[in-house]
Amino acid sequence: MKTILITGAQSGIGKESAKLFASKGWNVIAGMRNPQLDKTFIEMENVKVVKLDVLNAEEIQAVAKEILDNGGLDVLFNNAGIGVKGCLDATPIDSIQEVLRTDLMGPIQLMKAFIPYFKSKRSGMLLTTTSLSGVVSFPYDSVYAAAKHALTGLCESLYFELKPYDIKVKVIVPGPVNTNFKMKTYNSNQNLKPAKNLSKILIPDFNQLTEAKEVAKAAYEAATSDNDQFEYIVGDVAKDLISQYRSQGIEEFKDTLSKKIFK
Ligand SMILES: NC(=O)c1ccc[n+]([C@@H]2O[C@H](COP(=O)([O-])OP(=O)(O)OC[C@H]3O[C@@H](n4cnc5c(N)ncnc54)[C@H](OP(=O)(O)O)[C@@H]3O)[C@@H](O)[C@H]2O)c1
Repeated sequence: MKTILITGAQSGIGKESAKLFASKGWNVIAGMRNPQLDKTFIEMENVKVVKLDVLNAEEIQAVAKEILDNGGLDVLFNNAGIGVKGCLDATPIDSIQEVLRTDLMGPIQLMKAFIPYFKSKRSGMLLTTTSLSGVVSFPYDSVYAAAKHALTGLCESLYFELKPYDIKVKVIVPGPVNTNFKMKTYNSNQNLKPAKNLSKILIPDFNQLTEAKEVAKAAYEAATSDNDQFEYIVGDVAKDLISQYRSQGIEEFKDTLSKKIFK
């Protein structure tokens, strides 16, 4: 039985992933900030709920020690995350730091806790939920884009660095997903039309939003396929925008997007 540690398993993509991996017979360690509120996994024998705030270094060390003392780990799924949107000048520095610490430093600390063990057994996988915002940068998204671009860069670098140890590094790249993802908004613009135009590009139809279950399926495929694929893009919006961005290049893409947003 393989074992996966999933962060942010209290809700959304993390919760759906924990359910899916458990249903396939995996040993799931479901990290969450408030395990006492969990009702989903209480009766699932192969799911162990653990208290894990990715901002808390002591909790990270305690969870890692418990896992390494009790059979080890096959996949570390760094999925927990928060966001913030709006204008950089209006966003308080504390909120900016909280996003960078949660979305970047949390995963880094968890990776550091398991890489030596993965290296010693010459196997293992670092799976990470990045975002469309980790590939393409949109306006009013600077802090989240900075965090997720950094996370993408971290994983791309680790892909090569850990290859000689047979440790796989893969990223799940969703576009907008139908979850309760928290995005505090800070605005200093009078004109809200550009942000509305952008929303229509990112979510053309609320009834067609990607569901968390689809993202969980991609995570399962990434964890179980023996291929060397690095990137799993999920949802039509993310696929289309990333394809346009990569085929056009930044100069043409920025002109096209600007025309659509500031029309
Ligand atoms: N939803 C989207 O449109 C979308 C698109 C692209 C990428 N993503 C990424 O997908 C991942 C999962 O998000 P989601 O959409 O499933 O939203 P979600 O339901 O809000 O899930 C995020 C989870 O992360 C947890 N979390 C936040 N801060 C944490 C911390 N310090 N320590 C531990 N857990 C923490 C939250 O726990 P609490 O319940 O305690 O807050 C929550 O369970 C995130 O990395 C997000 O950036 C989401």
